[in-house]
Amino acid sequence: MLTHRLTDNAEMRALEPAYAEQFAAFIERHRAHLAPWLPWSVALTDEPLTRAWLQRYADEAARDGGRIYGIWLDGELVGGTLFRTFDVRFSTAEIGVWLAPHAEGRGLITRAATRMIAWAVDERGINRIEWRTVPGNARSIACAKRLGMTLDGVLREAFPYQGVKHDAQVYSLLAAEWRDSSRR
Ligand SMILES: CC(C)(COP(=O)(O)OP(=O)(O)OC[C@H]1O[C@@H](n2cnc3c(N)ncnc32)[C@H](O)[C@@H]1OP(=O)(O)O)[C@@H](O)C(=O)NCCC(=O)NCCS
Repeated sequence: MLTHRLTDNAEMRALEPAYAEQFAAFIERHRAHLAPWLPWSVALTDEPLTRAWLQRYADEAARDGGRIYGIWLDGELVGGTLFRTFDVRFSTAEIGVWLAPHAEGRGLITRAATRMIAWAVDERGINRIEWRTVPGNARSIACAKRLGMTLDGVLREAFPYQGVKHDAQVYSLLAAEWRDSSRR
């Protein structure tokens, strides 16, 4: 997948290290929006750190592990998605997502994650797609539900971040559920 069109004016692409400058600028601009939920948005404070982080995903992808994608709206990098994990042996993958505030509310993440699930399940034989979020992240939870995911349960205090021991909700979608929903 070099480019996958999401809408008339939006597309997703692999977020390769070559995009480090754009991605670092995106993080800088939208850190306040992302920081409550995403530790990497706090840690990646300059272009070299951002490039190294993207390189880690490029190396992971080369090993058939995690992957990261960017979303462009009218030519501007406005968000992204990742397979935080992609584990062929255990047939599981976990999706993570983010958007700039002005790109929210258009279904971009729902479309991008649907494409990722289709690829992971239909083309790569992954059986279980996971989505983790803190209980207070209403927009993230709405995405998981829109994608047809079910709440498996809560990992109590599994996400210590910014001095708070957050619970982590785990949602999942199984291959059989995905096939049922895409037949409808
Ligand atoms: C989580 C986050 C990515 C969700 O973004 P989002 O825009 O709500 O999600 P989508 O792109 O799927 O868009 C869904 C919205 O577009 C609307 N929409 C319009 N067309 C749509 C379509 N074709 N399909 C689905 N939704 C559509 C939906 O009604 C929904 O709007 P609403 O919530 O106002 O009702 C975003 O809020 C974010 O980046 N938050 C900060 C980072 C974060 O929390 N990341 C997740 C950590 S677990």
